[in-house]
Amino acid sequence: MSVVSYQLEGDIGVISLNNPPVNALSHALRLGIQDAVAQAQNDASLALVLICQGRTFIAGADISEFGKAPMLPSLPGLLDIIEASTKPIIAAIHGTALGGGLETALACHYRCALSSAKVGLPEVKLGLLPGAGGTQRVPRLAGVKAALDLITTGTPITAVNALKIGLIDKVVKGDLLSAALDFAQDIIAQGAVLKRVRDIAVDNEGISADFFAEYRAHLNKRFRQQEAPQRIVECIEAALSQSFDEGLKVERRLFVECMQSTQSAALRHLFFAERMSSKIKGLPKDTQLKDIKRVGIIGGGTMGGGIAMNFVNANIPVTLLEINHEALQRGKDIIAKNYAMTVKKGKLTTELAVERQALITGTTDYNDLADMDLVIEAVFENLAIKKQVFAKLDSVCKPGAILASNTSYQDVNLIAESTSRPQDVIGLHFFSPANVMKLLEIVRGDKTSEQVLATSMAMAKTIKKIPALSRVCYGFIGNRMLRQYAREAQLCLLEGSSPEAIDRVMQNFGMAMGPLAVGDLAGIDIGYKAREGLTDEEKGDVRSYCIADALYEMGRLGQKTGAGYYRYDAETRQRIADPIVLEVIEAQAKKRGVERKAISDETILARLTFALINEGFKILEEGIAQRSSDIDVVYAFGYGFPAFRGGPMFYAETIGLEKVYQTICQFGATYGEDFWQPAALLKQLVAEGKTLSEWSSNS
Ligand code: 3HC
Ligand code: NAI
Repeated sequence: MSVVSYQLEGDIGVISLNNPPVNALSHALRLGIQDAVAQAQNDASLALVLICQGRTFIAGADISEFGKAPMLPSLPGLLDIIEASTKPIIAAIHGTALGGGLETALACHYRCALSSAKVGLPEVKLGLLPGAGGTQRVPRLAGVKAALDLITTGTPITAVNALKIGLIDKVVKGDLLSAALDFAQDIIAQGAVLKRVRDIAVDNEGISADFFAEYRAHLNKRFRQQEAPQRIVECIEAALSQSFDEGLKVERRLFVECMQSTQSAALRHLFFAERMSSKIKGLPKDTQLKDIKRVGIIGGGTMGGGIAMNFVNANIPVTLLEINHEALQRGKDIIAKNYAMTVKKGKLTTELAVERQALITGTTDYNDLADMDLVIEAVFENLAIKKQVFAKLDSVCKPGAILASNTSYQDVNLIAESTSRPQDVIGLHFFSPANVMKLLEIVRGDKTSEQVLATSMAMAKTIKKIPALSRVCYGFIGNRMLRQYAREAQLCLLEGSSPEAIDRVMQNFGMAMGPLAVGDLAGIDIGYKAREGLTDEEKGDVRSYCIADALYEMGRLGQKTGAGYYRYDAETRQRIADPIVLEVIEAQAKKRGVERKAISDETILARLTFALINEGFKILEEGIAQRSSDIDVVYAFGYGFPAFRGGPMFYAETIGLEKVYQTICQFGATYGEDFWQPAALLKQLVAEGKTLSEWSSNS
């Protein structure tokens, strides 16, 4: 079936696109549109409507064609043809007109959209800029400031807001095709004027001499180290100071530069990685899903409350179980506080916040969980307690209910053994704050059924999480890797660095926060308590946690006690370097016979990131993660790893696996092979001269 069809509806030619799932501008689609526009120039039509079948208007250029040999017509070439049409073309928009999709609509002479539609230029999220005239046409229609805001954030806007800023001409209701045909008749009645955006002058009113410098400075703060936002400013400056055609040339040059950048390759990798991570290797596509209509949550603490919010936000009622009424009330109060904050930020109306909370029923009686389709346990991180809870669930829950644990470290197989239905038991590891963080690690027990796995993946999408599958091991994918990263942060401290230096290096690398600031935020007691349950051997070398333990013993638990690796201003909560911490570090170094000396920023960065990467390779070779891109998803969406570096495994490839391997071997010789044993898979790939992507596609 052809992806483009053309037919006359009276005196209007209708170009209809049908390229599922999102009408991306593939080569076939571009060719089809070119042919249809050419055909329409010589027929009886007086105007043309460009409309899409399926769930959306064109969602952009076809990202899977990026990096391959270009095929004509190029998108800019096609848009020239559309704009040069002798008959007015009206874009009829539904769903999302994004990137090249919106640029196609902007090359048309008129645009109408359903009120439910959204439009945007999200290229910046792929490390790109609009490369088909978007940077030149948007400022002509909407002005310089609105263009900069739209294109540098990449956030789509509603049709109503697009109408307000002049990006579209009309918001319509009902059947889109008939509304677009009516609009086309109006345009014909008014003389079928060809409104070409290229002919509009950019309005320079209100653009002061230092406007662009100020805007760049604001972007530098907001998008630290990212190249595309700065290049977008350059394009829009060109729109103001040069002709349309010269501006297009600037845009093309900078678009090509972005396309060839490592940052864009990393962000495009994550785009597909995010979509791939919900696919389970070997799972039949037609696996029947269970219905999740009612959810039970056990434990209304830090995690349970946030998890509950995810479900009620998706309109799924929740029964929240606590040990007593007091604990239940505390949990409900925290949820209410979180909703109040969301309302205050203007992200939710008071009515909706009330409606959502009304979907939460509290209980202290396990019998109230009998009818739940899914129960998620989020009680204390203690195996014995969790086993008791699961045995109880086994006795009250209906057959077929999914029984999940939010455990961070405990063995999901052992938890499953405390029930008579291990096939229904799974790990659903949310991240804190659970109502905000995108990642959901789905932990597959040895006996977890395919149906439970598939349902959990689908459920993740329903509650707008990004899932990644892990097998059972201590800490699963994310926390197991984090342990090695934290180990290196602690060793660097002991051997000569400071919390400020380590956090600065990692923040400059692009991490949302440095590891010691994160330690203070999460609480130094969390790691201490986790270690309490471990044997000395499991705890590892004392040098990798002695400073944390010393701070814990001083009552410095982090932000919650006003001091940890830093001191915190009581009013502003701002963190301040604390000389006492340096004394603690020096005392511990002395006690452990470690001679402190300066560590360069480069070494700090390599030690922390290579510790992550090496463990990532071990996780892959053991089959804990399905694919290396899933590890990248875990780190980008759960641990604040800079998306523009593509995740730790992609980052390793950009450095070169050989260099990573050699450095790890060197670290082994310098800092001890107990800490630094290169993963067998890394060694193997280097020996075979293969990349991770080559290995992933064959495994
Ligand atoms: N190119 C190729 N494939 C695309 C695509 C694109 N632009 N957009 C989506 N897809 C694919 C996805 O990979 C996915 O494939 P899969 O089913 O094999 O996993 C499928 O379409 C469905 O995508 P989603 O799962 O994301 O579907 P949703 O309904 O959740 O979301 C969407 C739809 C909002 C359109 C979302 O897919 C999206 O944001 N797409 C990217 C939009 C974008 O970035 N456009 C700009 C592209 S760059 C550009 O246009 C450059 C130009 O300026 C020259
Ligand atoms: P928390 O201490 O804040 O809350 C636990 C709640 O469980 C308490 O309110 C307690 O009253 C309740 N509880 C304890 N035993 C119970 C029982 N038998 N029946 C019913 N309720 C019971 O703990 P938090 O931080 O919410 O952690 C819960 C789980 O989530 C743990 O397994 C933890 O490892 C995991 N987790 C925690 C994260 C975090 O950052 N806090 C992140 C990801 C997972």
